[in-house]
Order: sequence, then structure tokens, then C-alpha cells
Amino acid sequence: MATFTVNGRVVSVEKNQKLLRYLRDELHLTSVKDGCSEGACGTCHVLIDGKATKACIPQTDKLEGKAIVTVEGLSDFEKEVYTYAFGKAGAVQCGFCIPGMVISAKALLDMNPDPTEEEVAYAIRNNICRCTGYVKIIQAILLAAEVFRIGEVPRESQEWKVGARVPRIDVREKVTGTGQYPDDVYLDGMIYASAVRSAYPRAIVKAIHTEEARALPGVVGVFTAADVPGINKVGHLVKDWDTMIAVGDTTHYLGDAIALVAAEDRETLEKAKALVQVDYEVLESVRSAEEARAENAPLVHRTGNLLAHRHIHRGNAAFAIAKSKHVLTRRFHTPYTEHAFLEPECAVAYPDGDGVMVLSSDQGTYDTQQETMRMLGLGPDQVKVRNMLVGGGFGGKEDVTVQHHAALVAYLTKRPVKVKLSRAESILIHPKRHPMDMEFALGCDENGIIQGVAAQIIADTGAYASLGGPVLERACTHAAGPYNYQNFEIDGYAYYTNNPPAGAFRGFGVTQSCFAIESLLNEMADVVGISPWEIRYRNAIRPGQELPNGQIVDESTGLVETLEAIKPYYDSAKYAGLACAMKNAGVGVGIPDTGRVRLAVQEGKVHIYAGASCIGQGLGTVLTQTVCGLLSIPPEQVVYEHANTYESPDSGTTSGSRQTLFTGEACRRACESLLNAMKEKSLTELEGREFRGTYLGKTDPLGADVPNPVSHIAYGYATQMCELNEDGTIRQIVAAHDVGRAVNPLSVEGQIEGGVVMSMGFALTEQYPLTDCRPTAKFGTLGLFRAHQVPQIKAIVVEKDGLKVGGGAIGIGEITSIPTAPAIADAYYRYDGKRRSALPLEDTPYSRK
Ligand code: FES
Repeated sequence: MATFTVNGRVVSVEKNQKLLRYLRDELHLTSVKDGCSEGACGTCHVLIDGKATKACIPQTDKLEGKAIVTVEGLSDFEKEVYTYAFGKAGAVQCGFCIPGMVISAKALLDMNPDPTEEEVAYAIRNNICRCTGYVKIIQAILLAAEVFRIGEVPRESQEWKVGARVPRIDVREKVTGTGQYPDDVYLDGMIYASAVRSAYPRAIVKAIHTEEARALPGVVGVFTAADVPGINKVGHLVKDWDTMIAVGDTTHYLGDAIALVAAEDRETLEKAKALVQVDYEVLESVRSAEEARAENAPLVHRTGNLLAHRHIHRGNAAFAIAKSKHVLTRRFHTPYTEHAFLEPECAVAYPDGDGVMVLSSDQGTYDTQQETMRMLGLGPDQVKVRNMLVGGGFGGKEDVTVQHHAALVAYLTKRPVKVKLSRAESILIHPKRHPMDMEFALGCDENGIIQGVAAQIIADTGAYASLGGPVLERACTHAAGPYNYQNFEIDGYAYYTNNPPAGAFRGFGVTQSCFAIESLLNEMADVVGISPWEIRYRNAIRPGQELPNGQIVDESTGLVETLEAIKPYYDSAKYAGLACAMKNAGVGVGIPDTGRVRLAVQEGKVHIYAGASCIGQGLGTVLTQTVCGLLSIPPEQVVYEHANTYESPDSGTTSGSRQTLFTGEACRRACESLLNAMKEKSLTELEGREFRGTYLGKTDPLGADVPNPVSHIAYGYATQMCELNEDGTIRQIVAAHDVGRAVNPLSVEGQIEGGVVMSMGFALTEQYPLTDCRPTAKFGTLGLFRAHQVPQIKAIVVEKDGLKVGGGAIGIGEITSIPTAPAIADAYYRYDGKRRSALPLEDTPYSRK
């Protein structure tokens, strides 16, 4: 028992527990986020006697007489200042790290009202942000310091329209911690559920003994695959993912759920899980793509170990390469990478009529609905899904992980339930970035003009299909690079193994193949005797030319402009590496891809309904700017509704950098209808009316028998440069990105900065080691960059007209992470003469021993 104050109120805490649990579960001070409960992420920072401290560390019994302050306890003026500063600087994306950042900022500014940039970066070194790259958070804290010194929050009015640097619509709720992620939801009578996971990556489940667990007081139920009322197998594209492994079936990885336990409280839940006994017959596991390909390899799935084979070709690569003046053939390897979004997976579900409502945090509410319907055997009216705030995704929240489990328990127990993954479960369970082994051959003429590229790509797709097929496909289709030549042939294979599944991850396979082709091009420049910049400038795709896939690119194509933007920085640097990239916006390759928006006039305001997840990239702000700009109304008259399946039309998954273009275009079309109506009537007179916009992006299938297939509606292009200091540390990364039209340049910069820092980790520090299919990393050992380690990041936004849809805006989310690693690798070659063909790069000041 201890007595202390929380936000000035005296509290006496009987039960000794982690401060984090007390603040969240008993006081419901949900600004204190539970990102890892391992003392590693910093989202739970609070002030204890004025010092920023992680609330997941201290036990309440040790806090006698202490003064605890959370963001809820800040003065109104402080909340105003931080909201203004974080909004103005564009420092908020998914928002999950932000209250913890605010606490660390307050601890600093209370002691040091005029800090330097370095002091701010050091003050937040224990707060991980996976979205922003810290650049704008540091700027926000410096701005907050300035406002505190002035003593007054500036009053600024801005016109909300496309192209304006306006703050995110959700800044206030994310800064002050009032916005709700699923874990912030506490419902009356809510129980907790969690899965017992497999003890072996590959084993037959012979029996599941649940009696002891069921008998434990406080246990509400223990469920197995036999309790699934619908179809046990789920999966976006390939339905191969077991909701739970049934008795008699074989496990596929250590993340497989064997039983779901539901209990009145978390402690009982953990005790009950330990009482579930499972009998296994352990089988030999498949630990790598190489093992999966071997003759007589054990089968991960009965269908065989090959998930996908893609053969992408045009022209005659072998002939073109054979005839080339210069030919290089090299092998490359890229590893598994963990998304490490700050919000672990969590869903709350509750009975709703004869079905369920799921409060989710995912990249596609309609995807979650479809899979849950299938698993429960219910119709669309019986399964509703609504997104709460989403604390980052980066591709790792496309598959269901907790949503269907929560829905199942709510459906079976008729109780509200929360299912949340621990950080260790999150690291194990959701699909990762595919490790790939790649062999590339590149042929050039004497002037460095590319004649042909041939490659083989082998991917470990882990235990389940997830999006492994499309990821492999994008790795192959983009392996040619953004250049103007016509002979390429890529063979790609994705193999099931008993490792954690691999799927979508910012860049969607292109991050990997770009590392190979761009590294090879840098070496080729040396062979030809021209600079890496020059070889790209000579080969860069220009408007009206044909990409290697045959698509004729439009006037918006701005690769050359990104190269030109980088040139002054590149030319003046001593040790500099360079790389380019292209990335599609939208699903493309003939697959129907539709954006849909419904605008409804309700109580004098325009409500935006779109079943398109805003996962921190800022879609809500993009749509609000679009509506405000086209209708000439202020943001106070616009309400952005979170994606859901019962009010919002299906606008597809937040994937493939598609939402700004597809849902943005749908929104523009809906606005045109509303604008027409406003010619006759005022908004007040239109009360109750609704206006819909739909945009279907038509593309040609891969291998379509047409001369110039349109594989994708649009491509973004980029050039990034890395410059090193004399000691081998990174001085700066300059990233020039062609975005067509920037709806919100502040947001675009934030995407670039965040994507670059994420891929600095991919290039230099991040690891996801596996021992016999078991990940051994914790959040704190993943190797994520911290604020004080980040060099200068210069984001250059290149705008160019020409795209006829989406207001000319091309998605930016993924491409920001694609060329960074090869640019860094080349910078190290220029520094020490050593070519590096595997990630993370060896022998750099960032290398981990
Ligand atoms: Fe920092 Fe998303 S805004 S983790």
C-alpha cells in the first residue's frame, strides 16, 4: 500500500502493481500508453517528482509520497502550447508516442526553458517514434519552448485547401491523450482474452487439456478451434491462416493460437493460460527458404512449400546482357525486419444484436469484417468493424491478429472483451518484411546505358501466405528500376517456412529489390567511369518513355527533377552515396481498385465517410483539406469519421500508397456533386442529403497482350543521397521525392523524414534474429534509431503536374523507405572502398557487435 498524488490528487493504492497498470486500468488516465511494458519504448512516460520516468517500471508500493503527473494533469495553457507546437511543426502522425514525448519535453523545459536542438534530442532519447524520424518532434519541442518563453500561444488562421501546410485534424486528441486507440477503451463488464500459443514451430497437436484452466475462478471460458462456428481458416488472399490449430492439425509457427482463454481480469487470464496443457508430436521444422526448396523438405502446408512464383519478362534480357559492353552479376541479401509500430495490436469486441461489433486498429476495416464474417459464419449486418485511432501500421496491420479472436470471444461469451498482444507476441505474430536472397545481372553499353537486367529473387514468406504473393510480385516488377530500357527478366519465388510470416512492409518488396539493382548500378557507374548520378541521369525514365514493363509514363514523371534537386548536395559532398526508386500508387496490375467516399450533411456540417484507414499517414487531414478547399468551408464545418463498415463505403485497404490518390479522387468527385447542389441551395438547406464519389482505377493485368500495358495508375519517383562525416557517421540524408501535387507539404515532409529514418535502421542497425524459427529480439534490441542518433534529414518535395486524377497527388508513404539503404551502402563504399551486399551493413560506426 502506498499514498502519493496523481495530477495533484491524493490516492492510496492498496494493491501493489505497476504504476502503468494503476494509471490506465484504475484511473483510466489513458494518455499513458502501453507500448511495450518492457521499459523500452517510452510511450508510458510520466513525471515522477518532475523527472520523466517510464510508468511500466516502478511498482506502486515504491511511490510513497511521490508526485505523479500525466499529460491529463498539465495545465490548460501547457496543453494549448503543446497542441499548437506539435500541430504547427507537423510532429504528429499516428500519435501513439506523442503523450510520452510531451512528458519528456515538459521535464526538459521545466528545467531548461531555452534548450538547443541537441538537448531536445537527448531529452527524448528514451522515447521511440517509428513514424516521424523525430525531426518534426524536435522542432515542435523547440517551438513549444519559444511559446512558453513568450507566454502566449500565437493566433493564426490558415486557409484549409489542397497545398496548405495545415496541422493534422487529430493533433489535439493525440497530444493531450484524449483520442482513443482500442486499448484505451474500458467497457462495463469487459473481460480479457488471450491465446495460448504453440510451443513448437511445427508439431501435430494431439490433445488440448482445458479442464484445469476452466476450473480456475474468474475464468469465463476456454475455446479451441472446435468452438469456431464458421470456417477456421482466414487470410486476405490465400485462406491458409488458422484461427486456432485444431486437434490433429499441424502448427505452422510459434505464433499459432492453440486455445483462447477469457477471464474477468488480466492476472487470472495469465494464470489460466499457464494451466492449458497441450500434447504435441514434434516434427522437423523448415527454417529457411533454402530448406523449404530442398528435395524431400517437410511440408509447411499440405499444398507444398512454394507459395508463389512470378516470372516477369519483356524483351530479351539474356541476349541484351550477353551483347553488353559491361556486365556485372552480384548476389544480395536483405533480412527480416519488424515493423515495430508503437501500438501493439489490440481489439475490443462486444455483442451487437445477434452479431458483434469490433473496435479495431487496422489497415482495412472491410478486410477485418470479411475475415471475421467467414470465421463466425455471419453476414455483413452481423459483423461491424470500426477503427479507433491506429498507432502505426507500415503494412504490419493488414492481417487480422486479434480482431477475429476478440470477435469470437464476444460472440461466444456475450461479453465485451479486450484482446491485446504483449510486445513479445506482437514481435512474434504479425507478418514481417520478407528476407530475400537475390542474384542480379546488369548489362550496360560503353556509355552506361542499361541494355538489360536479369534477376532471381528468393523470398522466405514464413508460415502463412499473408500478402507474400503480391509482395514478391512488386519486388519483381520493380526490380528493373525507374529506367528507360526494354530487356528484363525476373524470376521470383516465395517459399513457406516455419518462421514468422512475412507480408506487407512499407515498400512492399521493392525495398529489397531496389537495394540490389541500385547497388549494382552504383558499381556499374564505376566500371563505366561515370558518376552514380550521371549513370542515373542518362537512364532515368522521362515523360513519354517506356518503363521496362512497357508502361508509357505520363507528364507527371519527375525522376529527373529529383536527381537535379539532389545534385548540388551530391556534388559538394566528399563521401556520398546515391540511389533512385520508383513505387506504384495503388494495387494495379488489373486488380479492381476502388476509392469510395460518402459526404453527408448533418447538423450543418459535412461529414466525410470513407472506409479507408487513417493509420497515421494523415488521410483524414488530406480528405478534410480536399473538402474545405473545394467547398470553400472552414475545417470547423467538416467532420472526418473513422473508417467503419456500417456507415462508410468500402474504400479499400490502406496499402500500396493508394489512399491519397484513390480515396482522394473519390472525395473530389463527391465534392463536385455537393458543390453542384450548393449552387442551388445553402449547406443548411441541404441538411440530411448525401453525396457519393467513386473512383475505379483501371489497369492491365501482368502479361496483358497489349503493346503498352498500364500496370499502375501512377508511380512516384525519388532520389536519396547519404553523406558521411570523416568519422564514418552519417552527416545528412537528402531525400527528393516526386509527389505530383503535395496535398499537405508538411505531412509529405513528415512521411519522408520518417521513412528515411526507418530505412536507416533497415540499412544499419535493425535485426530480427531467429533461432530455430523463434525470434530472439525484444523491442529494446531491435535496433531502432533514437532521436539523438538521427543525422540531419533534408526532405525535398518535388511537385509536377500531369496526373489526371487524385488532384495530381501521388502517394508518398512507401517510397520514402525504398532508396535509403542502397544510398547508404554506396556512401560507405565511397568512404572505405568496401562493397556491401547484405543488410544491415557491416563495418560501420552503427554496426552492432
Ligand atoms: Fe510517433 Fe507514430 S507518431 S510512433
